[in-house]
Amino acid sequence: MPRIVTLAGDGIGPEVMAEAERVLRALPLGLELDPRPFGGGAIKTLGAALPDETLAACKACDAVLLAAVGLPEFDGKQVRPELGLLTLRKELGVYANLRPAKSGKIDLLLVRELIGGIYFGKRGRHEDGTAYDILEYAAHEVERVARTAFELARTRRKKLHSVDKANVLETSRLWREVVIEVAKDYPDVELHHIYVDNCALQLVLDTTQFDVMLTENMFGDILSDEAAGFCGGLGLAASASIGKPGTPGIFEPVHGSAPDITGKGIANPAAMLLSTSLLLAYGLGEHEWARKLDAAVLHAIDTVKTPDQGGTASTSDVGDAVLAALGF
Ligand code: NAD
Ligand code: IPM
Ligand code: MN
Repeated sequence: MPRIVTLAGDGIGPEVMAEAERVLRALPLGLELDPRPFGGGAIKTLGAALPDETLAACKACDAVLLAAVGLPEFDGKQVRPELGLLTLRKELGVYANLRPAKSGKIDLLLVRELIGGIYFGKRGRHEDGTAYDILEYAAHEVERVARTAFELARTRRKKLHSVDKANVLETSRLWREVVIEVAKDYPDVELHHIYVDNCALQLVLDTTQFDVMLTENMFGDILSDEAAGFCGGLGLAASASIGKPGTPGIFEPVHGSAPDITGKGIANPAAMLLSTSLLLAYGLGEHEWARKLDAAVLHAIDTVKTPDQGGTASTSDVGDAVLAALGF
């Protein structure tokens, strides 16, 4: 029986996770759901954003479904909910974060390096008060995520934009060298190198020019929110974080805990449900159910709209419509 650890987390996390759990329980796949404490709530009750037992359960399951972490009360604090998320990604070795953005003629897939770069370098304060965050990349860290991106490009329009800042950063110059080497194994994929600042501009000017985009960790964080903005916003943006074959992935919406709308029952669960669909496909190999859930979500949000989509529907109204579209 496939086991899925669910990490609802903070803010709107539990609200959107509830809808994903309804859907997963309705599927005739005999899935076992294992909810675990995680994030700000876990810091308050157990003293750690990623308690040892939660991490152990994640390492031993088939796939992790994660909603969102983050609470305003931890702003400025040393121990933060977000650290639990970063540690979980690192511990599971999910080096490639796939962030699709689709709407009308736009159909792009951003592949973000997820467990390296400035997010994981040394950080701190010097004696004189100066703060630092070190950005480092090893060639093997670039190579593995580049391979993932080229493999995915092969299954799509065979066009890949590698995003960097090679005109300034040494890590970007290494990034470019490694990508050029990897590209030799994929002569059928058209490779472009683009500076991150121009990339941000080109996304605004003509989003349809992109198919697969490959980025380092922080550039991908920023550009994926931007790409989501062209495709209905964060309420619709899903992601899959994957590592070595045979190890559990983390399936997580791009959005955060949305403190501004927490507790109102109006969070859009579509990003969470589309992430659930990615879990079915990439995490469990249930491609047919993934396709059905995708179609059901897109059908449901066509008419049942939460406020972020200009409507007045509630979180559970969307869940109801998705279950109905699935025939449950
Ligand atoms: P956010 O993604 O939580 O919210 C940004 C904006 O998008 C807000 O206006 C919010 O209301 C809206 N939004 C987000 N998800 C929505 C949904 N499902 N339906 C409707 N509207 C939605 O980003 P933020 O406000 O910058 O960060 C809030 C907290 O979340 C911070 O603590 C941050 O660190 C954390 N965060 C966590 C994750 C994660 O867990 N993966 C991702 C991003 C931010
Ligand atoms: C995301 C989030 C996280 C990130 C934060 C909460 C650590 O913004 O998943 O996009 O920056 O990776
Ligand atoms: Mn982000």
